[in-house]
Amino acid sequence: MTDGEAGTRVRRAFDAAAPSYDGLRRQLIPCFDDFYGAAVDMLGFPDGAAPRILDLGAGTGLLAERLLARWPRARLVLVDLSPDMLERARERFAGTVDRVEIRAADYLRDPLGGPYDAVVSALSIHHLPDAGKRALFRRAWAALRPGGRFVDADNVLAPTPALAARDRALWIARIRASGIAKGDLAAALRRTRLDVLAPLDAQLSWLRRTGFVDVDCGYKWLHFAVFGGRRPAIRRGGASPGRPAPRPHPPSGRPPAGA
Ligand SMILES: C[S@@+](CC[C@H](N)C(=O)[O-])C[C@H]1O[C@@H](n2cnc3c(N)ncnc32)[C@H](O)[C@@H]1O
Repeated sequence: MTDGEAGTRVRRAFDAAAPSYDGLRRQLIPCFDDFYGAAVDMLGFPDGAAPRILDLGAGTGLLAERLLARWPRARLVLVDLSPDMLERARERFAGTVDRVEIRAADYLRDPLGGPYDAVVSALSIHHLPDAGKRALFRRAWAALRPGGRFVDADNVLAPTPALAARDRALWIARIRASGIAKGDLAAALRRTRLDVLAPLDAQLSWLRRTGFVDVDCGYKWLHFAVFGGRRPAIRRGGASPGRPAPRPHPPSGRPPAGA
């Protein structure tokens, strides 16, 4: 499958999911508040700040809404492939048009603009093949101002197939216990076939190789992890340190898919 075909499948899947997307989130993400809350906390802007933030794969704007609640003076750019997901984001932010810009675009191919104080993403980058993830980390780095932060709240692959199977079983048990309708669970599980999960350790290492510092995972529950880093600030009397010389990225060591 080409990257273009994979992107079309993802766009179609989320166009179809858009009408019920928000209503099912708390059931499908049992750690919803901690997960999204950690992504906001990891940005660390002071109260009253007015950061410019890019949200990659923003969907209906769930993360963006939390960012605006924490920093009401923030200016947000939301990018997503799916027009139907973005339509929900437009409705959500109808009263804040001056603070929120919504763009239908492919974050791997289209210009991202910038410089931003932060680049964030939730539950989106795991749809890219590993080479795409690494390319997007480089694009995020380039779109940040020196000192800016990148935070990804995403699904990651457990270190071994046994742990991946355990995580999936625990996750499905929690969703079933929430009383979700059978059809909604089946649709969510079908969508996981589009996932290309990579281990957390590999992704942290790719971020460091991209040039990020203070790379860390700030939250993890089963396959839900929040991690990221900071583009180095400009040194006194000098330029911002460039990215380290490219070195080959180690493979993710991915066991068979299905988590
Ligand atoms: C699971 S949704 C997450 C939406 C939102 N971030 C959230 O946390 O609810 C994944 C989103 O990523 C978007 N997406 C996937 N690949 C993309 C790409 N290459 N460019 C832009 N958006 C993409 C999909 O269209 C979808 O809306």
